[in-house]
This record gives sequence, C-alpha cells and structure tokens, in this order.
Amino acid sequence: MSKKEQIDQDKLPSHIAIIMDGNGRWAKSQGKKRVFGHQHGVTAVRETTEACAELGVQYLTLYAFSTENWSRPKYEINTLMELLIKTIRDETETLVENNIRLRTIGNLDDLPSECRQNLKETKKATAGHDRMDLILALNYSSRYEIQQATRQIAKEVAEGQLRIEDIDENTINNHLYTATIPDPELLIRTSSEHRVSNFLLWQIAYSELYFPAKLWPEFRKEDLYQAVVDYQNRERRFGKISEQIQV
Ligand code: FPP
Repeated sequence: MSKKEQIDQDKLPSHIAIIMDGNGRWAKSQGKKRVFGHQHGVTAVRETTEACAELGVQYLTLYAFSTENWSRPKYEINTLMELLIKTIRDETETLVENNIRLRTIGNLDDLPSECRQNLKETKKATAGHDRMDLILALNYSSRYEIQQATRQIAKEVAEGQLRIEDIDENTINNHLYTATIPDPELLIRTSSEHRVSNFLLWQIAYSELYFPAKLWPEFRKEDLYQAVVDYQNRERRFGKISEQIQV
C-alpha cells in the first residue's frame, strides 16, 4: 500500500503548519551558496501545497520569513524577497485554477512594497476560493502577535468595550492574526531541528509535532503523506487518559 493509501480520510488534520528548515544546509551539501537552497525550497512548497490540496487539508501554513530572519546577511534577505515576489507572481494562476485562497499572517508593513503589492493582488484574485487556504507567515513573530493582541484587548478594556472578567481563550484567539483559522493539529519542522522558533506559540498548544530528517528542499509529497500517517497513528489525549479517548 502506498503512503497516500494509508491515510484515513476521516482523520485528516484540517490544518497543517510547517517550519521549512534546512535550505542553507542542503545548498552547502551541494557545494552551493545558501540562496540556492531557498530557490530549490520553492519546489517543496509547490509539492506540499499540491499534496495538501489533493488530500483535502483545509489550511496549510508555511513559515516563509520570521521577524528574526531580518538579521541574516543583506544579500540573503534580498534574494528571499525576490524569490517570494517571483513565486507569488508565477504561482497565482495555479492557485486560481485550483481554487486555493492565499492568505498571510505577520506584519507585512516592513516587506518591500513590490512584495506587498504582489501579495495584495494575489489575495484579491483568490479571495473567493474555498478548496484550501494557503497561509504564508511573513515577517511573523508569535511573541509580537501575542503582544499586539494584548495591547488591543487592554485598549478595549480601557475604552469600556470589554470587561476584564469576560476575557477568556476566545478573546485572545480573536485578537491573533489567526482569528479565523483553526489551530493546527499537526506541526512539521524539517531538518531534524526540534524547536518551534517563535512560530504559532499560542496556537500549537495541542498540536502534534513531527520532525523529519529531510532538509526542506528535498521534502516531497511522500514525506507529507508520511507525516499525516504518523499523525494519524498518535493518540491525542488533550489531558485525558487513554481509556477516556477510546469510549
Ligand atoms: C529556512 O532554512 C528557510 C527559510 C528561512 C526560508 C524559506 C523560504 C522558501 C522555501 C522560499 C520561498 C517560499 C515561499 C512560500 C514562496 P534555513 O535557511 O534556515 O536553512 P539552514 O538551517 O540549513 O541554514
């Protein structure tokens, strides 16, 4: 049985989030510069997006650029931004044909204007699509997201729109970038690194974590299927005991 056939459609995660890691190491292993790895990472983005859409996953979030990534060498940042612009431009037609909606999380204000413009156009062109949401985390920092949510909640309390005793988990959820997106059931980080690096810290409270050894540029549909099979073989207890889950 192929990996894809092993997937139980009734237990599909609705949201998969991915930390795409290992581009630089992959490039080095090929005797090339780091940016070569990012360029090849686009193939993995395409494969993963296709695999998720074909399976029926509703939300796919990709950590494409963290706020901390601004401290990389200027040349690498510029190449990443150019790659982002080119990829969005090249892939818009495919997103439209496949009924996929592009969304973003993160503070877009600091991105180059061409990049913001491109994103705006592609979001507009795909706004009505409902097969899958492809969510790019760009200039994203989970701590900043929580900080901004806290400020906004405090402001609403100060202005008398919200009572302190009414603040609950939903209040916080509703003030995050991900307000209209369910929490990911599965978080994947490639390249054997076991960290979450300021990604969706609130939202992954109960996510299953999966750390394949593959470096991101080598990640293919079969690897995504393997991750889903692994996820489906786990018992998600949410604090309960095994016997309570099985009844
Ligand atoms: C991490 O690998 C990867 C990134 C910081 C960038 C990911 C970007 C892409 C795959 C290209 C474009 C994406 C889209 C969505 C169009 P690393 O550089 O940290 O690798 P290393 O740990 O081996 O150095």
